[in-house]
Amino acid sequence: MALVGSAAAAFARHHRLRRTPALRRLVRETRLDPSQLVLPVFVDARLDAPVAISALPGHMRWPVSEIARQAERAAAAKVGGLLLFGLPQEKDHLGRAAADPLGPVPRALRALRAAAPDLALIADVCLCEYTTHGHCGALDADGAIDNDATLPLLADAAVVYADAGADVLAPSDMMDGRVAALRGALDREGHAERAILSYAAKFASAYYGPFREAAECAPQSGDRNAYQLDPPNGREAMAELRDDLAEGADLLMVKPAGPYLDIVAAARARYDVPIAAYQVSGEYAALHAAAERGWIDLPRAALESLVGIARAGAGVIVTYFALDAAAWLAEDRP
Ligand code: PBG
Ligand code: ZN
Repeated sequence: MALVGSAAAAFARHHRLRRTPALRRLVRETRLDPSQLVLPVFVDARLDAPVAISALPGHMRWPVSEIARQAERAAAAKVGGLLLFGLPQEKDHLGRAAADPLGPVPRALRALRAAAPDLALIADVCLCEYTTHGHCGALDADGAIDNDATLPLLADAAVVYADAGADVLAPSDMMDGRVAALRGALDREGHAERAILSYAAKFASAYYGPFREAAECAPQSGDRNAYQLDPPNGREAMAELRDDLAEGADLLMVKPAGPYLDIVAAARARYDVPIAAYQVSGEYAALHAAAERGWIDLPRAALESLVGIARAGAGVIVTYFALDAAAWLAEDRP
């Protein structure tokens, strides 16, 4: 019997379902949707006109008065939500402006509540944009992070943002016990229904560089290695996720995303809450820089990076590409 053309295939024909765009679409395992994307936005109390952030092409620091414009763009693109960061008028050593009801984030939230009813409003909760020293918490006499003194400061800020209309409070400081502190304070102040998205597995990453320019929150001395996770430690990341869930987190986030997809996948497999991943500023900036040199195709590379994060198990993706990705997805690329 002739072997050529015989029905007895000696190997699997994986190509069959890749032959046409229609077939590829039909069997696609992971679909990105704008509604799962969260756009980070920076609100600056000192501005009356937007200022471009050079390390984050396409992104601005917004005055409170214009934040609604950006929100309307996000809502029109059917993006899922906004993650708000604030730059205050003035900083101090305790970051007290983080809990100022008239600070940039509460003012923006009140403006957005009315202008963007279809967006989930997520408030980042941290002190580093508000402290003179740029660390994410209060410092003790030796200049080390004072974990326990930081907790009530974070809880106060979370309550102020919830009062102003935040749907979700997202602590990014990496203090131990802060999810419990936030949950307790929110419940006491009548916000039992507001959710906590914990940046549970947040690594001490080199990829935060552009963000620190955007938010003016680089530590003035030292680094964040004593409170953020050490990049090689996956098991320790799982312990952080476990403890934040036990303290009352409603969603768990892994950050950065691309270099930590193993943690995203492990978190997805182990826990039954929504898993979020934050494609951080340096991941975005690196893709932009390579595309600018003509070395990669930006829309394809960006969508590939995002679908990889989704395939790993993140249902919610925070990304500076949110608006662009929504537009690219609407083009229905092959
Ligand atoms: C600070 C904070 C950082 C980011 C979000 N919140 C930076 C840091 O920890 O130094 C990084 C986000 C990004 O790089 O896009 N709490
Ligand atoms: Zn911080």
